[in-house]
Amino acid sequence: MSKDVYLTGITTTGTPHIGNYVGAIRPGIEASKDLATDHFYFLADYHSLAKNEDPDRISQSTLEIAASWLALGLDTAHACFYRQSDIPEILELTWVLTGMTAKGLMNRAHSYKAAVQANEESGSRDPDKGVTMALYSYPILMAADILMFKSTKVPVGRDQKQHVEMARDIAQRFNHHYGETFVLPEPVISEATAVLKGLDGRKMSKSYNNAIPLFADEKRLRKLIMKIKTNSLEPGEPKDTADSTLYDIYRAFATPEETAAVERRYAEGIAWGEMKQLLFEYVNEHIKPARDDYRRLIDDPATVEAELRKGAERAREIATPYLAEIRSAAGIRRLGW
Ligand code: TRP
Repeated sequence: MSKDVYLTGITTTGTPHIGNYVGAIRPGIEASKDLATDHFYFLADYHSLAKNEDPDRISQSTLEIAASWLALGLDTAHACFYRQSDIPEILELTWVLTGMTAKGLMNRAHSYKAAVQANEESGSRDPDKGVTMALYSYPILMAADILMFKSTKVPVGRDQKQHVEMARDIAQRFNHHYGETFVLPEPVISEATAVLKGLDGRKMSKSYNNAIPLFADEKRLRKLIMKIKTNSLEPGEPKDTADSTLYDIYRAFATPEETAAVERRYAEGIAWGEMKQLLFEYVNEHIKPARDDYRRLIDDPATVEAELRKGAERAREIATPYLAEIRSAAGIRRLGW
């Protein structure tokens, strides 16, 4: 058995929030400590062009996401940490794979279907309104990300599972047509990692505007935690931990013993105001050391840039010779060789 290769990408469109931390960043950094497996983590900045975001937002987000992973202690000597756009081979591979991708497969992509459905629901005459070709063929770029590094395991959220399966389909088709070239990846969906709820009780997401930024300063963090929705039970009335956003966030940060203690406080009827204060203090203490490092990195983008360049160099040592093999398999060759 050869080594498992873990790879995952983060689209550079937002500021990391505590839901991203608990659901992706923390497990990713933990997993990368396993020296028996290889790890690739990258900033999927070309993916962010699919929705025509604000350019300054994209570059700011790239800095914030990179600084977050570094401040939280990603070991870049082991894990390869890079920016997608620094690896031109990924885009070249995208085109090679585009030739192996059935249009019908892309028609079935959830992300595309969701856009069409939204248009239909809003009564638009054009079901493809606002759908760019980058959005439509987004799964092909994602397949190139995955196949470029012979990934075997791709940790993703449930919403991305289909895209990984598409990468597998495309790879299989290529292998069948041109000969064994690609390793087949599989999605890894962690059931254990919590999906945190946001301020309003819906899933924490930048698109719902209900997120708590991971490295919000102390004042802002307190303010946001004080805004988290609760029910109207009075102090002294016993409270249920099920369906309590405050409890869920606390549990995502605290030890099992500390969580059990909070469960007792709920049963005894802790006041919501007191629980909010307790949560704020806990999360703030937990985040503080990394937040200081994060601030330093945000103020020193050249250091972050240097890390990404170093990662890109390592990534290209793999990508450049492999792409030559792939192109040759497909008939793109130097003449007379
Ligand atoms: N599309 C993924 C998301 O929105 C991000 C991503 C891009 C990705 N390329 C990838 C994830 C390759 C895993 C593997 O979350």
